[in-house]
Amino acid sequence: MGRILAIESSCDDTCAAVLDGLSIRSNIISSQIKLHKKWGGVVPEAAARAHVEAIIPVVQEALEAAKVGLESIEGIAVTNRPGLIGSLSVGVAFAKGLAMARNIPWLGVHHLEGHLWSVLGSDPTFRGPSVTLIVSGGHTELVQVDGPGRYHLLGQTRDDAAGEAFDKCARLLSLPAPGGVSIQSAASGYDGQNYPLPQARVGALEFSFSGLKTAVRNLVQSEGTRLNIERAAASIQAAIVEPLVKKTIFAAEESGSETVCVVGGVSANLELRHRLGEECQRIGVRFLSPPLELCTDNGAMIGLAGFLRLELGEQSGPEVDVLASAPLP
Ligand code: KG4
Ligand code: ZN
Repeated sequence: MGRILAIESSCDDTCAAVLDGLSIRSNIISSQIKLHKKWGGVVPEAAARAHVEAIIPVVQEALEAAKVGLESIEGIAVTNRPGLIGSLSVGVAFAKGLAMARNIPWLGVHHLEGHLWSVLGSDPTFRGPSVTLIVSGGHTELVQVDGPGRYHLLGQTRDDAAGEAFDKCARLLSLPAPGGVSIQSAASGYDGQNYPLPQARVGALEFSFSGLKTAVRNLVQSEGTRLNIERAAASIQAAIVEPLVKKTIFAAEESGSETVCVVGGVSANLELRHRLGEECQRIGVRFLSPPLELCTDNGAMIGLAGFLRLELGEQSGPEVDVLASAPLP
C-alpha cells in the first residue's frame, strides 16, 4: 500500500489528506466554525450539508497540494465512527463511491484511533507500547497502547471531556470558540495567583470536569465586573491541565510504561504539553506528542492510522456502516 487518500468528516470540519505511506504530502481542513457560530454550537443537519458542499473541493485541494492525480491513489481511509451520523455519512459515502469507481480498497477508521496514531507525525517508527492520554472535545481517556489495534482502556472522564470543559468555561467568560484556544491565549500573559477552583475527587485514573463549570459560573457571578479574565483563564487552564498531568503520570508509573503520549485537540495546549513533558522527564520516561497541526481533527491522522491497517491487507466491505458511538477497536 503506497499512496492513500484520507478523509475525516465526523463533526464540523471537512478534512482530506494525501499520504505516501506514513509521509504526509498534504493535509487540508475546511472549518465550519463560522457557520455554527450563530447557533452557539454544532447543528448536525447544517454540518452534514456543509460537508456535502465542501467534500469535493477539499479533496481536490488535497490532491493539488500533494501534486498528485486521483489515478495515483491506491487506498482510501475514512472516519466511520464515532461521530455525527449525517457528517460521517458524507465522508463514508464519498470514500465508498470512489473505491468502487477506482476498484481500490477503502477502510473505515475509528476517530480516536486516528488521534492515537497522530504521534506518527512526530516519530514514524513508533508502534507502542505507551500510556496515551486522549483529550478532545468529546473524549478524555487514558489508554494503554500495546501496538496497532491493541488498546486497553485504563480510565476516562465521568462527565465532561477536557475540551468540552475548556469550551463551556470559555463561553462563561464570553470568549470565542474554540474555547481551548481562547483560554490558552487569555491565560498566556498572566503570571499571578490563581482564583481558587475545586479539583474533583474521583478514582485515581478517572476524571471529572462538570464541577469546574459550576465553579466558574459562580465565580463569574460573584466577581461581576471585577472579574480578571486573564486570571480566570489561567485558573481554568490549571484546573484542567493539572489533573490530566497527575493522572497520566500516575498511570505511567503504575504500568511501568517507558513512553507517554498525549493526543487529541486539547493536546495542542502548550501548558499541557509543557507540564507533561516536564513530569515525564522527572520520572524518566519518553514523552511523545503530535506536531501542533495534527492535534485537532484532520485527515492526515486518519491516513496514518489507516495506513497501519491497510498495509496489513485489512479493508472494509460494502456493508460497513457509520456509527454514532463505538468503543476503540
Ligand atoms: O480533537 P478535536 O479537534 O475534536 C474532537 O474530536 O472533539 O478537539 C477539539 C477540542 C475543543 O474542545 C477545543 O477547545 C480543544 O480541542 N482545543 C484546545 C486547544 N486547541 C483546541 N484546548 C486547549 N488548548 C488548545 N490550544
Ligand atoms: Zn477529534
